[in-house]
Amino acid sequence: MDFKQELSRCQAKIEEYLDRCFASRPTHAALYEAMRYSLLAGGKRIRPVLVLEFCKALGADEDQALPLAAAIEMVHTYSLIHDDLPSMDNDDLRRGRPTNHKVYGECMAILAGDALQSAAFSAILSSDLPTKARAEAALVLARAAGEDGMVAGQVLDMEGEKRLLTLDEIAHMNALKTGCLLEAACLMGVIAGGGSERQKQAAKDYAAAIGLAFQVRDDMLDMTSTSEEMGKTVGKDEKQHKSTFVSLIGLKACGDIVAEQTGKAKAALRQTGIETDFFCALADYLAGRSY
Ligand code: IPE
Ligand code: IPE
Ligand code: MG
Ligand code: MG
Ligand code: MG
Repeated sequence: MDFKQELSRCQAKIEEYLDRCFASRPTHAALYEAMRYSLLAGGKRIRPVLVLEFCKALGADEDQALPLAAAIEMVHTYSLIHDDLPSMDNDDLRRGRPTNHKVYGECMAILAGDALQSAAFSAILSSDLPTKARAEAALVLARAAGEDGMVAGQVLDMEGEKRLLTLDEIAHMNALKTGCLLEAACLMGVIAGGGSERQKQAAKDYAAAIGLAFQVRDDMLDMTSTSEEMGKTVGKDEKQHKSTFVSLIGLKACGDIVAEQTGKAKAALRQTGIETDFFCALADYLAGRSY
């Protein structure tokens, strides 16, 4: 398997599918435009790639998982639109473009995020998957996105601007704000592919490890990369006094965490009947990513 080629193939499929979402001429054209602006602004599409690849790795037809892949990208995109709002991270640049609220105003940005979240659940529940799989996937995503998942992580992130979080608190925050959606992506792929409970657990273990590595890498890049490369403003975490692993233990120790978690991720899928090549290469790619 050529990893880069497989990643591009999968990303292209997702782009094409997302472009068909909200493409009809709606009554609320301005809302649709704001939703599509952020949804189709690029992005690495890691979460939907995980959905399709886990489904495929179980020998099932990945196309049946496309609505689930789109759904997780919609929730992720909504989280980014809201994360960038003036009352949260107050960012001007996202995915190489002005942030949603810079273009459409704060009110429309909030509403575009809201509508993307509902649309995600519509996509899952109106897919052609068996009823049980649809319900299970919707529940997984709801739990991952909500008050005990991503949103809870964002709350801790905001609290971390006001006081110094401990290492444990930062790990917990990362697991929630970033890990939960990555875990949901992997699990939804296994659900679409009809995987076993053991395979679900393995997918969760894989996700927990790449999730932690992913956010730590994001925090490292916020300090070391450029806005041009990242497509979003860098240097913000320090400026906004965010509690991150980088602020607490420094870049070198963060690099060690990324390497350690990448190793854990690669081990998680062994002897589970899931073909590991793509997922091992993806873990390495994410560990070394520069944007
Ligand atoms: C950014 O996620 C937010 C974090 C969880 C660090 P990504 O790095 O996946 O952003 P896109 O989707 O590629 O823009
Ligand atoms: C964002 O974390 C996590 C979510 C959007 C849930 P960050 O605030 O670090 O993400 P970036 O750096 O703005 O992409
Ligand atoms: Mg944030
Ligand atoms: Mg942010
Ligand atoms: Mg960041």
